[in-house]
Amino acid sequence: MIELKNITKNFGTLQVLKGIDLHINKGEVVSIVGPSGAGKTTLLQIMGTLDTPDTGTVIVDGIDVTRLKDKNIAQFRNQHLGFVFQFHQLLPEFTALENICIPALIAGRNKKQAEKHAKELLDFLGLADRASHKPAELSGGEKQRVAVARALINDPALILADEPSGSLDSKNKEELHRLFFDLRDQFGQTFVIVTHDEGLSQLTDRTIHIKDGMIEASTLQTSNSSILIDHEQLTTGQEEPTESLA
Ligand SMILES: Nc1ncnc2c1ncn2[C@@H]1O[C@H](COP(=O)(O)OP(=O)(O)O)[C@@H](O)[C@H]1O
Ligand SMILES: [Mg+2]
Repeated sequence: MIELKNITKNFGTLQVLKGIDLHINKGEVVSIVGPSGAGKTTLLQIMGTLDTPDTGTVIVDGIDVTRLKDKNIAQFRNQHLGFVFQFHQLLPEFTALENICIPALIAGRNKKQAEKHAKELLDFLGLADRASHKPAELSGGEKQRVAVARALINDPALILADEPSGSLDSKNKEELHRLFFDLRDQFGQTFVIVTHDEGLSQLTDRTIHIKDGMIEASTLQTSNSSILIDHEQLTTGQEEPTESLA
């Protein structure tokens, strides 16, 4: 699903990514964790074609996006990718339903079809009665779920989320996290989620630990244990069993 090879990125003299190699399978839910400034958002933006690397290749859904022209990149992003950010970034003057429809309309789908699909998504997310509400009339958790519906409207193979629950209270946080796994189970979507939330990262299939622009280690979560693999893959250690938050 995603293949990153030797990704580097500098901002001026600042080396933000120092050679990232990463492979993510279809249907995997992967978290990216690490200290502030480690390069997590930059890496996610590169995966999402919102930024370009200085070196390396980025293959997403079988397409080498580093070779796409600008006009084709926008189309690729619209059709293959969904984004969820920390702050919902819904358009305030539009209703929940209209906000969800926007990427479908950009993709050239007709309004009726888009609205039908948007309503199905609202239903699935338990928000059917919020369709005609504007963002200001929705709670934080509802806004974030509308943002997820907007990310899903074009059936993207890959959802990229940057601190998606960073502004939510614990109840809404748990609901949103559960939603990611429900979606993966029902639609086979692949998720890459940058998060500070340890509860969420422990629920994901794999956690990538980034430090100073490099992958320091990965944690594989199995049903009853988690296995830490350092970046050289030299040491394999057993950790405490992952606790369920449910
Ligand atoms: N557009 C930019 N221009 C200059 N520096 C940037 C830019 N974006 C990010 N940085 C810097 O790159 C480093 C990594 O940023 P970021 O990827 O946002 O880290 P994280 O998401 O892990 O906190 C930080 O030092 C940040 O200030
Ligand atoms: Mg960030």
